[in-house]
Amino acid sequence: MLISTLYVSRSLIEPARATAAVADLVEASIANNLRRDISGALLFTGDHFAQIMEGPEDNIAALMTSIEHDERHQSVTVIRRTPIRERKFQDWALAYNGPSLFIARHVARVLASPPGVDKQRTARWLTDMMLELMTV
Ligand SMILES: Cc1cc2nc3c(=O)[nH]c(=O)nc-3n(C[C@H](O)[C@H](O)[C@H](O)COP(=O)(O)O)c2cc1C
Repeated sequence: MLISTLYVSRSLIEPARATAAVADLVEASIANNLRRDISGALLFTGDHFAQIMEGPEDNIAALMTSIEHDERHQSVTVIRRTPIRERKFQDWALAYNGPSLFIARHVARVLASPPGVDKQRTARWLTDMMLELMTV
């Protein structure tokens, strides 16, 4: 079964080296994701990450476990996890378009809000935003 997961988290990467550090992270992730049949997109606002990953259930579960233990970020919060028939990011092992500072406020708000608040709306908004950013 194909699963799509969307999470947000707070970056622990020192701002001065974040641009290079995230570029390195993405490069390594693309190689891994291709091997594991995982597609997706990453958004980095300077303070927060949002990531969508799509792929076989076991591979997504294994990657989420790695990501939850990764010390480059904290407060990993899954805001959607759902079975899918088709991928949205079919052509991207991990689409990334550099720091997206203009949506920083929105992602920060997701983590600040109580659990359950408007989760579906937020998930939809973030997904649309990622699709739009990656395909311009
Ligand atoms: C924000 C963020 C996103 C990440 N995304 C991925 C990813 O899409 N694919 C991946 O293989 N690793 C990703 N990683 C790195 C993993 O946490 C982990 O370091 C990597 O999978 C290597 O794990 P391993 O040593 O268990 O093989 C990400 C890390 C962070 C902080």
